[in-house]
Amino acid sequence: MIGIIGAMEVEIAHLRDQMQDTRVETVSGIDFYCGRIRGREVVLAKCGIGKVFAALCAQTMILKFGVECIVNSGVAGTLTSELHIGDVAIATACVQHDMDTSPLGDPYGLLSGINVVELPADQTMVQALDRVCREAGVNHRLGPVATGDQFVHTMERRRWISDTFGAVAVEMEAGAIAHVCYVNRVPFAVIRVISDEASGEAQIDYASFVKKAAATSSDIALRWLAA
Ligand code: ADE
Repeated sequence: MIGIIGAMEVEIAHLRDQMQDTRVETVSGIDFYCGRIRGREVVLAKCGIGKVFAALCAQTMILKFGVECIVNSGVAGTLTSELHIGDVAIATACVQHDMDTSPLGDPYGLLSGINVVELPADQTMVQALDRVCREAGVNHRLGPVATGDQFVHTMERRRWISDTFGAVAVEMEAGAIAHVCYVNRVPFAVIRVISDEASGEAQIDYASFVKKAAATSSDIALRWLAA
């Protein structure tokens, strides 16, 4: 069974519409939709916004539904001049930009205990998503995706995150899903479509483009399931 996680209703609605033989199980307040999409067994969930909800959802998918892999699909702010609204970021790895034990001498983003900054995405899944994006004719980039419990909306923060981690997009859940997958040795991938520039008018752009961006991300996930 494949796990697919979106943070918000708009990030899962399109996928749920395509699900057949759907049954729902609620765990810890999260609805898990089990069924078939494009002929594949899938459990789909809206986890809620932020790292804690995302981690709780990923761990439940692993322990209760026994998923073989997890895909996180949704929207993000761009961190690079190569990605604009509507373009696609495929994570090669995830980092948590708000994890900071630097006063103790650690590098920014170090995940204490497992001692890594970058959580690598599954290479086979990344390559398949890269192919899907090329076939779909969307402008896309592969690179690290940065996660934190904050909506990034200033050029200063945007620059700091891109300079510190070399990340191409910023959002609020993927790094937590990646963290859970890493400790459980479950392969994961992240599809994020740009909804805003993570600076300046980010809030306004986000409100205008979130729906379209989320639909594009779902479309890439559907193409990947069908491939
Ligand atoms: N998701 C979409 N845009 C975002 C931003 N600018 N910061 C954090 N998460 C986001």
